[in-house]
Amino acid sequence: MKQFHAYQQLKAQAESLQQTHLNDLFTQNPERFAQFHVQMPGAMLDFSKQKITEEVLDGLVSMAEEANLQQWIERLLDGDELNHTEGRKAWHTALRDVSNPNPEVAEQWEKMAYIVDELHQKQMRGYSGKAITDVVNIGVGGSDLGPLMVTHALEMQQNSNSPDIHFVSTLDGRQLQSILAKLNPETTLFIVASKSFGTIDTLSLAETAKAWMLSSCGVETSAMRHFIGVSANPQKMTEWGILPQMQLAFWDWVGGRFSLWSSIGLTIAIQMGMDGFKQMLAGAHEVDMHFKNTPFKENIPALIGLLGVWNTNFLDLAGQAILPYDSRLKYFAGYLEQLEMESNGKHTKRNGEFVDYRTCPILWGEVGPNAQHAFYQLLHQGTERVMSDFILFKEGQGSGERATFHQNLNIANCLAQSRAMMVGQESDDPHKHYPGNQVSNTLLMTRVDAHHLGMLVAMYEHKVFTQSVIWNINPFDQWGVELGKKIALSILECIDERNATQLDQSTQGILQQIWEHNA
Ligand code: F6P
Repeated sequence: MKQFHAYQQLKAQAESLQQTHLNDLFTQNPERFAQFHVQMPGAMLDFSKQKITEEVLDGLVSMAEEANLQQWIERLLDGDELNHTEGRKAWHTALRDVSNPNPEVAEQWEKMAYIVDELHQKQMRGYSGKAITDVVNIGVGGSDLGPLMVTHALEMQQNSNSPDIHFVSTLDGRQLQSILAKLNPETTLFIVASKSFGTIDTLSLAETAKAWMLSSCGVETSAMRHFIGVSANPQKMTEWGILPQMQLAFWDWVGGRFSLWSSIGLTIAIQMGMDGFKQMLAGAHEVDMHFKNTPFKENIPALIGLLGVWNTNFLDLAGQAILPYDSRLKYFAGYLEQLEMESNGKHTKRNGEFVDYRTCPILWGEVGPNAQHAFYQLLHQGTERVMSDFILFKEGQGSGERATFHQNLNIANCLAQSRAMMVGQESDDPHKHYPGNQVSNTLLMTRVDAHHLGMLVAMYEHKVFTQSVIWNINPFDQWGVELGKKIALSILECIDERNATQLDQSTQGILQQIWEHNA
C-alpha cells in the first residue's frame, strides 16, 4: 500500500489522531455530524464517530482513485473476469437487475415461480399424493447462510400459504436427525443446494435424507420426487439422482457467498413469494447503481470500505464488530463472517506476491441487545481497539403502546452504546474508568423488509469489493478452505482403517482416546 501517493500523509495523520480523543474531535467541530454523514433513499451512514478529519477522507478517496476503484466497479458490473485465479466472472450483480433481466436469469426465475406457485397452491404432492407442508434446505456456506439469514429476518412477511422451512447444514448429522424426527416423509420436500454439488457436508446429509425417504416410500423414483437440486453443476445433480424437472441452475460466475440472489434463494422465494424475492433483488440493484454512480465521498459502500481500510491499516485496529439492533437480524453477523473473511482473508496480492500489510480484520457480531450482555465489556474496557458497525432501523416491529415502548428502548440502547464507546467515563476508581475513544459507524435504515435487506447485503458486498481493490487481492476465490477438506478425507480413511500411524502425534493421540472410549 506504500505505493499510494496519499500513504505517507495518511500515516502521519493517523499518528497525530492516535493522540486525539474522539470527544475532542466533536468539541472542535460543531458541524461534525453534518460533515460526516451521507445518505441514499432508505439508508443513512453516520461515520462522525470514526477517527477521521476532512484531510483523512480526502486521502482515502485519493487512494481509491489511484487504485482505479471506479474502473474496477464498472468491470464488476459489466461482468469482466475479475476472479482471475479461477478464470471466472464475479457477476452476482447481473442477478438483480429486475427491470432488465439477463435471459438466463429470467428463465430460472420462471422455474422458481412455478415451484413456488405449486407449493403455495398445495399442488406439489409427495409420493402418497399428500401436499408438501415442509421444505428442508440442505446446504452449507453460501448455500445456507444467505437464505437462512433472509428467511429468518423476513419471517413476518411470510406468505400464508408457504410451507414451513427448515435449514440443515452441519455434517455431524444431529441437526438433520432432530428435524427429521418432527417431519412426515410424505409431506417433506428437500432442496439440495450446492454450487459444486460436490461438497461432502451437503452430499452426506442429502444421502441420509434420501435413505430416510426411501425407508418410507420404498421406491427410488418416488423418493426422488421429494428432492429439488440447485447447482451450477447439472451433470453432478443428475448423477446423484435429481430428476431433470427438479433441477434449478445457476452459473460458475456466481460465487457461493454471493449466491442468495440466484436460485439458491429458492427458500426465500418460497417463503415470501417471487414478488418478495424480486423486491430483495431490486433493493440490491439500487445499491449497485448507487455504488457505480455516486462520488466516493457520498458513496455508502465505498465509504464503509475505505473507513475499514483506515482503521485496519492506519489505526491498526484488528477487530470489526457487527451489531444490528433488531432480533430479526440474528444471522446477519454470521452471514458477514463468510462474506468478509472468506473474501478478503487473504495474504496474496493479485499478482501472487505476498502482502506486507494487513487485510481483512477478524469480524464477529451478534444482535446488539444480546451482545451488550456478552462481549461489550471488552469493547468498553478491554485492551483491544475494535471498530463497530451499529445497524439500526427507524421502524420497529409491530404496533401499539408496548411495541413503541420496545422500539424506543431499543433505539436508546443502540445510541447509548455507540455514545458510551465514544465518550467513555472518567472515574477516580480505576475499575469504573472507561477510556471511550472506540470508533463506530451507525447505519440507519428505514425498516427490515425485503427491499432494505437487499440493500444492506449489497452494501456490505461492495464494502468488501472496495477493500479488495485497495488491498489488491482477489476477493472471489477461497483456496484457503481446500486444505482442511483434503486432510479431512485422508483422516476419514485412517478412521475407517483404524490406523493413524502416518498422522502427527496430536491427531493420533486424540483418535486413540476416541477409539478407546468407543471400544
Ligand atoms: O468451503 C467453502 C465453500 O466453497 C464456500 O465458498 C461455499 O459457499 C461452500 O463451500 C459451499 O459450497 P457448495 O455450494 O459448492 O456446496
